[in-house]
Amino acid sequence: LSDSLNIGIAGLGTVGVGVVKLLTEQQALLRDKCGRPLNIAAVSARSRNKDRGVDLGAYRWHDDPLALADDPGVDLVVELIGGEDGVAKALVERALAAGKDVVTANKALLAHHGTALAEIAEGNDVSLNYEAAVAGGIPIVKALREGLAGNPISRVYGILNGTCNYILTTMRETGRDFGDVLAEAQRLGYAEADPAFDIDGVDAAHKLAILTSLAFGCPVDFGHVHVEGVRDVSALDIEYAEELGYRIKLLAMASHTEHGIEQRVHPCMVDADTPIAHVDGVFNAVVAEGAYVGQTVFEGQGAGAGPTASAVVADLIDVACGRRAAPFGVSVTRFKRPDPAAMAAHQGAYYLRFMVQDRPGVLAELAGVLRDEEVSIESLLQRSRSADDPVPVVMITHETREDCMIRAVRAIGGLDAVLGQPTLIRIEHL
Ligand code: NDP
Ligand code: HSE
Repeated sequence: LSDSLNIGIAGLGTVGVGVVKLLTEQQALLRDKCGRPLNIAAVSARSRNKDRGVDLGAYRWHDDPLALADDPGVDLVVELIGGEDGVAKALVERALAAGKDVVTANKALLAHHGTALAEIAEGNDVSLNYEAAVAGGIPIVKALREGLAGNPISRVYGILNGTCNYILTTMRETGRDFGDVLAEAQRLGYAEADPAFDIDGVDAAHKLAILTSLAFGCPVDFGHVHVEGVRDVSALDIEYAEELGYRIKLLAMASHTEHGIEQRVHPCMVDADTPIAHVDGVFNAVVAEGAYVGQTVFEGQGAGAGPTASAVVADLIDVACGRRAAPFGVSVTRFKRPDPAAMAAHQGAYYLRFMVQDRPGVLAELAGVLRDEEVSIESLLQRSRSADDPVPVVMITHETREDCMIRAVRAIGGLDAVLGQPTLIRIEHL
């Protein structure tokens, strides 16, 4: 196999095993596409004896994944271990510095160290490919880096976490508990090693930071992503959303605003008849808006062995065919450095829900606080009536500045007649 691309795979979990299966099952197809074989030369994981459902007997085994970077029989290292630091980072740095191409699915690593790693890759004339890191099987990295490369991009947004979308969809369709549906997503191999990354919005924020760099040609800036997750989305809010003509989705959005680049991840109410409202289950969707192309929409499975392996192997094919792009489309030496926009300056409409004592004057108190912050109400809903139990008051606001809205919600939360924490969900008319 003198002309083969010799691959070393670190990490043999959901994604690693998916990649081994695809490479072995599709050898002939891949040889035709690349004009040479994609050969798994060596592998590494924590436990050598674990039954992974695939035969690894033909590959060299390294107990230490870093040995893949030093193995002269490995041309390209695939990092599928995960984690923003530790062994994954050490392996990628070492492989790039050794002049080996790297393919990774590790969005946490790229969100935190993407710019520095791209600099090492560019300095060593090797590829750093990471299609699988954002939106699983959807080829959005390639789309932004290559297909849409001629366009100034104004906005990129989407559903970037399969676990959250699976949870929100299943809760809406079946009324099942949050915890129960999360456990199912973990069993299906969708969730991160620490599922808090999924449900607290961090994983989507990692992916968004990468997309922002690709879209706007700037350093990866995870630190300026406003992040909220789905832990507090209740069955009651999902019901109200349906009634008001919305669906609740965890959206990740990056745009150029008058204040700079705004990056945010949080639950949103989107119009029920907008296409993204119907992207359900483990599916992800990304919308990119370019000056010449207009709006482009990408949809597909965002997690799981098959879709993720599909993206990893596409990256391998690029290397095998000698196609190399700067990791973020623009060389790090030509990155722009736009200001981050503060979330406090964000403008939008809001869904608010307060649990209140049902007695005269309560609505007037709420309205007074909103008036003081110049928040204008578009509609209001209070149906049930009970002398003893708190009743929900639901409001939809007109366009409001985020800092005014937050102050108003805090003040209302402190009123004697209001019980528990108010709920605030931003409304996006996409
Ligand atoms: P898993 O937890 O299923 O697999 C991780 C693998 O890494 C395991 O084989 C484990 O070994 C190995 N590993 C962990 N620590 C070490 C170490 N110190 N040294 C050597 N090997 C180690 O993760 P996934 O396959 O789900 O995810 C892998 C990467 O892909 C992550 O970056 C994740 O964010 C990303 N990703 C995952 C997707 C998914 O749907 N699951 C989708 C897109 C990206 P062992 O098996 O012996 O314990
Ligand atoms: N945990 C991630 C998700 C995997 O649920 O989307 C894909 O990156």
